[in-house]
Amino acid sequence: MNSKDLFSPLQLGPSTLTNRIVMAPMTRNRAAEGNIPQEMNRLYYEQRASAGLIITEGAQISPQGAGYPFTPGIYNDEQILGWKKITAAVHQKGGHIFIQLWHVGRISHPSLQPDNALPVAPSAIKPDGDAFTYNGPQPFVEPHALEISEINNIVDDYQQATRHALNAGFDGVEIHAANGYLIDQFLRNGSNNRTDEYGGPPENRSRFLLQVLAAVTSVCDSRRVGVRLSPLNSFNSMRDSDPMTLFSYVVQQLKPLKLAYLHVLEGSMSPLPEGDETFDYKKLAALYDGIYMANHGYDRQSADEAIKSGTADLVSFGIPYIANPDLVERFKADAPLNAPDQASFYGGDETGYTDYPFLSS
Ligand code: PHB
Repeated sequence: MNSKDLFSPLQLGPSTLTNRIVMAPMTRNRAAEGNIPQEMNRLYYEQRASAGLIITEGAQISPQGAGYPFTPGIYNDEQILGWKKITAAVHQKGGHIFIQLWHVGRISHPSLQPDNALPVAPSAIKPDGDAFTYNGPQPFVEPHALEISEINNIVDDYQQATRHALNAGFDGVEIHAANGYLIDQFLRNGSNNRTDEYGGPPENRSRFLLQVLAAVTSVCDSRRVGVRLSPLNSFNSMRDSDPMTLFSYVVQQLKPLKLAYLHVLEGSMSPLPEGDETFDYKKLAALYDGIYMANHGYDRQSADEAIKSGTADLVSFGIPYIANPDLVERFKADAPLNAPDQASFYGGDETGYTDYPFLSS
């Protein structure tokens, strides 16, 4: 009966994915000036089109959503035009592509903000460390705590960005609610100490995410909308006092929305404080009844096992996709993988971006 594996097709809303291997969203800081997707970005995604699904790097929903140099946006016509070339190239190769909709919240710097404004967040709590700016690392600043009217405007920005994404030819959108960016800042209580309806119990801290999803699914078939969560990731100074309770609540709320998928980073990008390392991802996944996409540290074998056992429906790969445009073909042939070059992960030109060799070359 149950004969599915990593190479089995999957119906994702209206899209028939040819396999269960997903290219995970990854910031590469190679957009053109003005945060506009350009020719080398088209080639990069086109090279990876044999993935069952590509999820793009985070794309800012508004100028305020930016937190790094040279990350693409999806808020103006030039950006939409740049993305159109990318979606057309991926579709031409038989692939599918979602765009990750991103607002960084407090993980920014006035020099990256319109009118040098303060970055925004649920609460005026400064993250530790430095922002990456056009002038190198600069200490994070205490963000401006959003007023309710400002929160509503950001929800509108997500909706508008979704319209733009559909316009640009994307098969769907992924709402980035992970990794310490704005939505995650609302979810976890290390970054949210609000006393209004957006702070306090999980119901309140989830309100912003659920409002965003309501706004997005009112302009886009819900089966084309995915969500990414990272319950334990401590990256960007994140923590929560009770992640299992919080994220169990979130997942229960996602169930009736009939989304494309739930995408979970099952780990942490930064070291976790002692005692905080455990989280029952299987239990979280079991609470969900739709398509579950697992991410973080999977290889060919563990991913195949996850699909075969039904623990996951899709598995996304990050770093392996940087260095292996033909990851699907390599997995199929059980061929060796190219080693990634860390130094060219963020920023730069085609080197370490579109010049990794294919098996056949
Ligand atoms: C990063 O730039 O390091 C980065 C961006 C987005 C993420 C995670 C990490 O979700």
